[in-house]
Amino acid sequence: MKKTDIQTDHEVAARLARWYEAFGRDLPWRHTRDAYRVWLSEVILQQTRVNQGLDYYLRFMERFPTVVDLAAASEDEVLKLWQGLGYYSRARNLHRAAREVVERFGGEFPRRYDEVRSLRGVGDYTAAAVCSISYDEPVAVVDGNVYRLISRLYDEPSPIDSTAGKRLFRDLATAVMGGAQPSIHNQAVMDFGAMVCTPRSPRCGECPLEDRCLARAHETVELRPVKTAKTAVRERWFNYLHITCEDLLPLLRRGEGDIWQGLYEFPMIETGEECTPERLVAMSEFREWVGGAFTLRGFVSLRPHRLTHRLIHAVVYRVEVAALTPRARAVAIPASTLEEYAIPRLLELYLEKS
Ligand code: ADE
Repeated sequence: MKKTDIQTDHEVAARLARWYEAFGRDLPWRHTRDAYRVWLSEVILQQTRVNQGLDYYLRFMERFPTVVDLAAASEDEVLKLWQGLGYYSRARNLHRAAREVVERFGGEFPRRYDEVRSLRGVGDYTAAAVCSISYDEPVAVVDGNVYRLISRLYDEPSPIDSTAGKRLFRDLATAVMGGAQPSIHNQAVMDFGAMVCTPRSPRCGECPLEDRCLARAHETVELRPVKTAKTAVRERWFNYLHITCEDLLPLLRRGEGDIWQGLYEFPMIETGEECTPERLVAMSEFREWVGGAFTLRGFVSLRPHRLTHRLIHAVVYRVEVAALTPRARAVAIPASTLEEYAIPRLLELYLEKS
């Protein structure tokens, strides 16, 4: 389809709005127009499904009822509250954006699309969601749900991850919205994509757009949307040293320029491939952490942990020592305080099981 072929079809938006009225989900952030709350819900929901996101939203709201409260928190506290959602740069951006709202907008969440879009971590999707839901600005959200719905509705084969495809789908999303009420329309599309026009086994039999859906007519529903090649996933091998010395345990904060910035973890030796225990204990870095006399209590190979562009293979070695080396002593904490620190999900899973 070309841009010139795009026409607004008011019937599609009208049917979506009726469907939303009947079946839309009753969610806490739908009882407010407070842009701070809407923004927070959107940032959380970029990271997780509604069911899990609900708890996080409520906890953030309780602890940080206003954007000024969030701005005043420490980064560690925000990361801790975010723990379990993964992709911690989102939490750091959330925190920085709250500080921007205080510094640049006097603590009042901005109103204009371009101002909202200028906040740290806020992209087109989030800015469109916040401005349409809170202020009824007519900007269509474009996310996975929208790509799916529109590519099926028009049986559109343009790849959604190509520049031309992205532009086309944005224009189509705007046309589908037409003159509908933006706050209702965008949330209707989100729910519709989550509940009817789903990635697998869509409920076409219950779909109010079935008679309009070209992919349904052409039997291409399962083939839409089209994506070009996936980005390569890089594998990494993390060998963690869970060292204990009576009630002390070394713990480090991850620095900039890599995954999990600002999170805490055990001393870790990264290797370019899978490492055997024999090779690991022979490494000089291992000696710097544990010293000469140590007892290896065992090791646990964790399940491969998938991040967006990474696959982490982690092994945790449980090591007891009678005395901490200078390097380990420098970063040791009382083991009983470990749960106060934000740690990566994979170590959380390890600790739950150990
Ligand atoms: N997914 C992303 N944003 C959402 C919202 N506001 N409501 C429901 N699902 C969503």
